[in-house]
Amino acid sequence: MDPDQNRLEIDPFRHQPPFDWRALFGNDHPVDIEIGCGKGRFLAAIAERSPARNFLGAERAARFYRKAVARVRHRGVRNVRLMRADGLDLLDRWVPPASVQRIHLYFPDPWPKKRHHKRRIVRPALLQLAARAVPPGGEFRVATDHPEYRQVIREQFAAHAEFFAPRPWSAEDPERLPTSYSEKWQRAGRALWWARYHRTSAPARPTSPLDAFQRDATFPTAHGAGD
Ligand SMILES: C[S@@+](CC[C@H](N)C(=O)[O-])C[C@H]1O[C@@H](n2cnc3c(N)ncnc32)[C@H](O)[C@@H]1O
Repeated sequence: MDPDQNRLEIDPFRHQPPFDWRALFGNDHPVDIEIGCGKGRFLAAIAERSPARNFLGAERAARFYRKAVARVRHRGVRNVRLMRADGLDLLDRWVPPASVQRIHLYFPDPWPKKRHHKRRIVRPALLQLAARAVPPGGEFRVATDHPEYRQVIREQFAAHAEFFAPRPWSAEDPERLPTSYSEKWQRAGRALWWARYHRTSAPARPTSPLDAFQRDATFPTAHGAGD
């Protein structure tokens, strides 16, 4: 049995990419990923209501990651794994092609200042990596409160229309669960945009798009910064 089975936290130093989902979760249930899971509110809730699915949350900031670990542990949900990781690196090196049913990305940092736009996670590399990770029929779900970033996200998906097609998403969908930020912005009276995109049947490019982009050299990975 894999030593990490039933362990909530994934220590990247104890694994070699890519993941073997069966070994990681101890079953063959479909896998969803949340990038930037923050304090884990959405992840804990969806995992609790979907015991026949597996969920991996990636969070880059140590303080939020620890809160997510504490929350999921407290709730006692066993179909969640958490990793302190960069979402792009996760998709690039750790996720086997066509092995993830849904990607969730809720309230990604909008980086409103123009000089910070390059830090935004929604960019061509993310869409290409997502197309590789999610097989036809899977989904990418995203939400933001930020009007300009919403437009950028729409444009990015439109630019990758061969991979992702928009789908209506009813506000009544029980999977449209609150996140810490959705609650915060709702209380502040901001309009929230929730969208889901269906993975089309177009084959994804097999090579890593990150080779063509600058990797985040500041975030350490198991294989060295900017590996
Ligand atoms: C505005 S918060 C939203 C948190 C949560 N999704 C919610 O809705 O409450 C954005 C989160 O994404 C995390 N984050 C930003 N860039 C990331 C990346 N490249 N990989 C993983 N997490 C990232 C941040 O640390 C932060 O916790």
